[in-house]
Amino acid sequence: MQNRGQFSSRFGFLMAATGSAVGLGNIWSFPTNTASNGGGAFVLAYFILAFSLAYPALMAELIIGRHTRSNIVAALSGAGQRSLARNVGKFTGLYGVLIASVILSFYALVAGWMMAHLLAAVAAAAQYERALDWLTSFGTARNVIFCSLFSLLTIFVVAHGIERGIERWSRRLMPALITLMLALIAYVLTLPGATTGLQLYLLPDFSQISNPQLLISALGQAFFSLSLGVGTMMVYGSYIRAEENLPATGALVTLIDTAIAFLAGLIILPALFAAQRKGLQIYNTDGSLISGPGLIFETLPMLFAAMGVIGYLVSFAFFTLMTIAALTSSISMLEVPVAYATERFELSRRRLTWIVGALIFTCSTVLAVNFDALFDLVVDVTTKYSQPLLGIVICVFAGWVFNRNRLLAEIQRGYPNAEHSLFWKLWPPYVRYFCPLLIIAVFAQAVIH
Ligand code: TRP
Repeated sequence: MQNRGQFSSRFGFLMAATGSAVGLGNIWSFPTNTASNGGGAFVLAYFILAFSLAYPALMAELIIGRHTRSNIVAALSGAGQRSLARNVGKFTGLYGVLIASVILSFYALVAGWMMAHLLAAVAAAAQYERALDWLTSFGTARNVIFCSLFSLLTIFVVAHGIERGIERWSRRLMPALITLMLALIAYVLTLPGATTGLQLYLLPDFSQISNPQLLISALGQAFFSLSLGVGTMMVYGSYIRAEENLPATGALVTLIDTAIAFLAGLIILPALFAAQRKGLQIYNTDGSLISGPGLIFETLPMLFAAMGVIGYLVSFAFFTLMTIAALTSSISMLEVPVAYATERFELSRRRLTWIVGALIFTCSTVLAVNFDALFDLVVDVTTKYSQPLLGIVICVFAGWVFNRNRLLAEIQRGYPNAEHSLFWKLWPPYVRYFCPLLIIAVFAQAVIH
């Protein structure tokens, strides 16, 4: 087997793993979800769920990853003694590789829109109307071109390997992302109307907290946000150094991901209400707050345009932020099939990254050309159905198939007292019973709706 590579430091791993977790999901759905679901009360519920349910599932992936030191297919197919467990493991692993790749194929398309809007800020500043028009209008040519640019960036980073590619770029990009966020927060809070947004975002309305629908959708959001289910965190876990304390590191990743989602709300909500002050429509006809593509590609650009000269700068900063958030996530998706291919076939990582990247880009192109027919369907099949199902199987493997003493020994390598810790009292029953059952509840909810 080739030299697998590993993260050179704890900080490097933290940047890579939080880079994977913090993505478009955090910035465009967490804030509006919060505002429409009881403000501060939702933030509190999300926080509790993230730690009590998503965190154990994240730990299952990190521990299995570091224990097996391999990609998801080899990790799961080598877990059990019986051939049934081996076959289920292999099938689950391959399905995870497929789903990670398909998620990347639509994610790269969306990330391409961010890059197009980033250039649009430049075109607007240069008063270059025709370019501005093309860059901001939905069209197959624009979509494919920018998706290919974004895919090239992703391939470029992953081709350089763990330490010189993923870790190096995450260490550069994540601090840049946080700096940009803080600057944007400071600016939008000065806009007229901003405090109305803040109030809606932060003041808790506890009457909504017992709504089961709300809790379940918060849980779904937490699973997507922590990149769970498809082997992303498993493969990142397989590159963590042996002496690292896994439960503490995983907790930090969960904490940072949640904190950044929270910070994103301090940009989005004040900006939305500043837009309303300028006369823009910020509610849908059904009374819910505008979210998703409508928010990012229509409402916010209109707000930026109404700001005058500084609007070009703010728009440039905002779409740079989105592009960075997307890139540190997309590299973690591409690493899943690339790690599998490199460990399975005798070819260099560089070459395989280009081959796998090209295949995924071909899928993106198919999606772009048949956008109306395919896009929503593909998003639902991968994120709503496949991710939770895979999450269940991974928890079941961690709880029932892997040898418990070996997993404990793995944790003890960086945490000598693990055996007597609260973590070791709670985590095993969690992955055995609670996590699978609760994911089934989320899944049932997704199927019924
Ligand atoms: N967590 C990222 C976000 O919030 C997306 C992401 C990265 C992801 N890797 C993943 C989602 C793997 C599902 C599976 O946008």
